[in-house]
Amino acid sequence: MSEIECISTEDAAAPITPERARGRRARTGCSIADVARACGVSAMTVSNVVNNRGAEVSLQTRERVLQAVRSLNYRPGVNAVQRRRTLTHALGVIFPDAGNELTENLYFAAVLSGIVTRATAHEQVVSLFAPELWSDVFASLRKYTDGRCDGLIVVTSNREIDILGALIERGVPFVCLSGAHENPQAPSITVDNTYGVEQAVRHLLDLGHTRIGNLQGLQLADDAVERSAAFKSLTESLGCDADPRLVVNGSFTRSSGCAGALSLLDQDASSRPTAIVCANDRIAIGVLDAARQLGLRVPDDLSIVGFDDILTAEITEPGLTTVRQPLKQMGSAAVDILLERIDDLNGPVQKLVMRPELIVRGSTARKPSINRTKG
Ligand code: HPA
Repeated sequence: MSEIECISTEDAAAPITPERARGRRARTGCSIADVARACGVSAMTVSNVVNNRGAEVSLQTRERVLQAVRSLNYRPGVNAVQRRRTLTHALGVIFPDAGNELTENLYFAAVLSGIVTRATAHEQVVSLFAPELWSDVFASLRKYTDGRCDGLIVVTSNREIDILGALIERGVPFVCLSGAHENPQAPSITVDNTYGVEQAVRHLLDLGHTRIGNLQGLQLADDAVERSAAFKSLTESLGCDADPRLVVNGSFTRSSGCAGALSLLDQDASSRPTAIVCANDRIAIGVLDAARQLGLRVPDDLSIVGFDDILTAEITEPGLTTVRQPLKQMGSAAVDILLERIDDLNGPVQKLVMRPELIVRGSTARKPSINRTKG
């Protein structure tokens, strides 16, 4: 079982008491007119601000309106009857491109499974918001904040789209899973990526590898950025060949892994790696594809380490050595933290960092004495 490290948080896995499951009552809301009155502007101005319209609203007014939205707990689209009701007991999950990702990226499937199991235990339902693109996330802001759910779990954070900033401004309870690592205002659940990459690199060093390649994920996701930075600093400090030709940028997909591996292994004899650390398991599965195409044996000719430990990692041939993230526990902790936020939006911002664990399977072995990857 993975160790859980908590930074400024109570025990996220605390038992669910009947009071916790049942006892959440709606905080009293207010109408758009109340907000307008509180800051001396028209209801139209309030509407423009909360819906992100009306470029003519001055920054000062905008800030004043958002301040009132937060302090009065105004929820656009929630009518007076709804405001008096108890909470919806629905937790929203924002999952960009879920249509494809849920089936193709088992990382998401495991996280969602943790979310659903824990939410059900808390007598909550889960509403899945599945915008196709990250840019649609921002465009659909109103849907997430109009009262159909009590709070949001935002899975993965694309650094380009400041959805979290918008939720903070509007006083919407949320927690971010796998992003917002360095945002002190955003509650988050992340994994210690530096520790995970270190386990992978040390394992390969112990097996005698020094020319270690790195296939990176898209440098817009916090996890990918941290894993890349960790690889760079570790190879420098642990005495492997710190050669930029060993690093290939890509995305968290199998095809990216295959293309990246083909380019890494297509280098001249002295440049080719004998082992590759991948930013996730899908990339590692793509490296297995590339090795097959090139007639290389894994692990005899090439060692491969993944990251995540998705369901398929143990059924590849050979099984994948990988850095396991406690994905289900991360999903379940997200539910606990979100429910605490819904109870008390002014409580401490919890930043939970979970510890990953190296799982050694058949895809890694001692560095070959005769390097068949060298042509
Ligand atoms: N693995 C796969 N996909 C992801 C991850 C991860 O760790 N983080 C964000 N998207």
